[in-house]
Amino acid sequence: MKFLLKGRIELSGEIGSAKKPLDEFLKNADTSILAKGAPEGKGPRILKWTSEGNEIKIEIESGTHVRAHEALIRLKKGIGQELGKKYKMGARSVVIDEYEITIDLKQAPKKKFKVPFVESIDFSGEQCTIIFKNLNEEFILNNYIDRILNLISKKVEDQFYEGKAEYWELYWSSPEREAKWNLDPTEEMVKRGWLKQGPTKGKWFYKPELTAIFRAMEKIAVEEILQPLGFQEVIEPHHVPFDVWIKTGHMTGSPNEIYYVSEPKTRDPEEWEAFRDYVYVTHKIDKEELMKLIEIPNAGICYAQCPVIYWALSNATISDKSLPLKLYDRSANSNRYESGGRHGIERVDEFHRLEPVYIGTAEQLLELRDKFIERYKYVFNEILELEWRMVWVTPWYLQQSGQIEHEEAGEDKIKGTIDFESYMPYRGSRKESEWLEFQNLSIIGDKFIKAFNIKPQKQKSELWSGCSGIGLERWTAAFLAQKSLEVESWPEKFQKVFGTMPEGIELL
Ligand code: SER
Ligand code: ZN
Repeated sequence: MKFLLKGRIELSGEIGSAKKPLDEFLKNADTSILAKGAPEGKGPRILKWTSEGNEIKIEIESGTHVRAHEALIRLKKGIGQELGKKYKMGARSVVIDEYEITIDLKQAPKKKFKVPFVESIDFSGEQCTIIFKNLNEEFILNNYIDRILNLISKKVEDQFYEGKAEYWELYWSSPEREAKWNLDPTEEMVKRGWLKQGPTKGKWFYKPELTAIFRAMEKIAVEEILQPLGFQEVIEPHHVPFDVWIKTGHMTGSPNEIYYVSEPKTRDPEEWEAFRDYVYVTHKIDKEELMKLIEIPNAGICYAQCPVIYWALSNATISDKSLPLKLYDRSANSNRYESGGRHGIERVDEFHRLEPVYIGTAEQLLELRDKFIERYKYVFNEILELEWRMVWVTPWYLQQSGQIEHEEAGEDKIKGTIDFESYMPYRGSRKESEWLEFQNLSIIGDKFIKAFNIKPQKQKSELWSGCSGIGLERWTAAFLAQKSLEVESWPEKFQKVFGTMPEGIELL
């Protein structure tokens, strides 16, 4: 790695009589102030400098130890200390006019790409050279340079991971069960009028029959899982501001799947008059006019419920008495722009989920995970009588933040995501067909605790968090795919919760 910097240090006054001590300071800097923290002879070097008026022009070269931009910041501080007392002078700011950085990559990239803020980026085998121009001090202090270098390495790695099979390791599986049929439940339900394609993409209107099934599933989730485990219900808002998703990683990993929310610029009726009149006359929307009346989005519709639960606890200190903290939301619907992936009720742009979130020490969460698994097993084996399995997969928080495959799932079997998969007879044989992920369970570690600055009562204890997604569409899709649409074929315990099928709507 090589860093070659041309920059300037602006002083708070004319150099004048301070020139001599300043030159002396810069001459010795390589072996004093700049050498700290670098192995002998491996630190940065000042190649040359000139000073005039209140400005020092300087060129610095370095390897990875005390990189040239860090050296520039050190010099700024050093000059203040050196000249401050005697000459009443300090360094006011630094700028980089040109910065050439050459880094070694793990592999030669498969194809070229761009990164923000750089003037040019060139690849030669496993080497990448970037040139920055005109960087201010804030840019350096905010760590943008490091992030850009990391981004380049990540983008090259991504090129090699694309298309690789995802991490998957079987953890437990139920016995085989005889399926009651092998049709696609969504298609059959459309025929029976239990649901109707929604008025916008990838969404469904659930009619009384299917709604009743969802509510039975929800009742089971609440009464057989969340309440016995001591979860308290909360109701969260559906709109998520960008700063929350910057913290969780969704803004880098999944911005292409978010439904964005715009506020009106004004609710003054007069401002909207032309828009309304156009609709009145044409029964159409004047989209250009609309764009003038709404803001650029500053939020999106809920994608998963946990981010806003973390937000609600941000900067808070949780009392020991409240640990492990167990909350769940079932009010926010999740919206995801699925595009090509849509299918039936199992892959949709809007879904309904109960999401428990838990915060506690590692031990508390491990114990809770065992209890969750016990309750889930009871529900899926005894009430829904499913054929299903549990597998370790790439953790959802890595997937959704775009870090797919760079870390192995459940390597240590403490942190990670367990997916619950169910056999879908209509898709083909047990062995060859894709099973449906109908549920997940994760322990995340301290990633979100740190991101939202959630604090424990005792400074010493370390908090972790996790969540589990209980999707009503997915539970129902798994259940109906195995058990058919005939109430009489459903397991007795489920029938008991379900009661009788609603009358439904007779359409002629
Ligand atoms: N937040 C998790 C997910 O999105 C659980 O719902 O999968
Ligand atoms: Zn979650």
